[in-house]
Amino acid sequence: MTMSEPRTGSPADTSAPPLLEVDGLMVDFNTDQGWANIVDNATFRLDRGTTLGLVGESGSGKSVTSLAVMGLLPKSVGRVRSGSIRLDGTELTGLSERRMEDIRGDTMAMIFQEPATSLNPAFTVGDQIAEMVRRHRGVNRRLAWDRAIEVLGEVGIPNARSRAKAYPHEFSGGMRQRVMIAMAISCEPRLLIADEPTTALDVTIQAQVLALLDRLVRDHDMAMLLITHDLGVIAQVSDEALVMYAGQIVERALVSELYQLPRHPYSEGLLVSMPQIAPRTSARLASIPGSPPMPWQQPSGCRFHPRCPYALERCRHDEAILVQLSETRSSRCLRVDELDLGRGGNE
Ligand SMILES: Nc1ncnc2c1ncn2[C@@H]1O[C@H](COP(=O)(O)OP(=O)(O)O)[C@@H](O)[C@H]1O
Ligand code: SF4
Ligand SMILES: [Mg+2]
Repeated sequence: MTMSEPRTGSPADTSAPPLLEVDGLMVDFNTDQGWANIVDNATFRLDRGTTLGLVGESGSGKSVTSLAVMGLLPKSVGRVRSGSIRLDGTELTGLSERRMEDIRGDTMAMIFQEPATSLNPAFTVGDQIAEMVRRHRGVNRRLAWDRAIEVLGEVGIPNARSRAKAYPHEFSGGMRQRVMIAMAISCEPRLLIADEPTTALDVTIQAQVLALLDRLVRDHDMAMLLITHDLGVIAQVSDEALVMYAGQIVERALVSELYQLPRHPYSEGLLVSMPQIAPRTSARLASIPGSPPMPWQQPSGCRFHPRCPYALERCRHDEAILVQLSETRSSRCLRVDELDLGRGGNE
């Protein structure tokens, strides 16, 4: 990807009630080893017109967090144990499946990594978008079709009127992802959740799709939760970032702050392994050594301690909690005040 300077996002107006407010969210999954905690006490807010990036290695609980918000946790396998998810003032936990179906696609919509699995190969893209519009807006076929063409045009599909009659396989990967985005925004949702939306695309197309998402969020005053394992993606479009490790948020920061100076060793590890955007350091790690723990084998103390270059004995025992450092910043590191981060493990 062409790496641009991280955007200098300004903090959103925190006096208005947030569009999405997640508080103390705990999600458990029934795994081969029994019930295990997958998301531990996630708390965050997302304001209109802004993008929140959720970043972390594979398996850190990003998708599960978003599926919980969408009410799409796989039944009998995953459950919200406790916590609250409020969308525009409405508490979503405990709502009936029927109510959630109304809200999905209408107030909030999701874009997945693989359009191939979300688009039906048997119907034209125009029909699929029009069907979505008819279901949620209750308009007639003609108006729904017009709306499909309108949104296909808005996401940059050339000749939208004729392309609406094409089938998903007749589009390139990047164009299919645009079709997915068109479908997601067709009913003007207020919240857009994009889970690795550009991971399957080549770098140039990736940058174009990210720019498109960014423009849509601002033009329509939507809010976007952007999930990625790639900090470069966050740099391109997010205002604020949450770094997630082993089911926990370990750092919250404005994107500009995070790139300038991480305040958690895990964030630092993610950053310094990206040479294009590494902070003030010459020492670089190829990647963070080791791998994340399995959910049923979470380490005691700070969950990152087995991989942390700064770990002390107390990190193995003392619980690390997310501590607020400033209005825009929090870190879950017991040593946050002692460490001079940004040097990739060199104290
Ligand atoms: N369908 C499932 N069944 C059992 N465990 C799952 C399932 N989906 C996810 N998990 C568990 O939840 C953890 C977090 O997964 P996920 O949210 O998909 O990670 P991420 O999106 O950050 O890569 C995984 O490590 C895995 O152990
Ligand atoms: S608490 Fe200790 S082990 Fe955990 S991130 Fe901080 S220094 Fe590393
Ligand atoms: Mg995922």
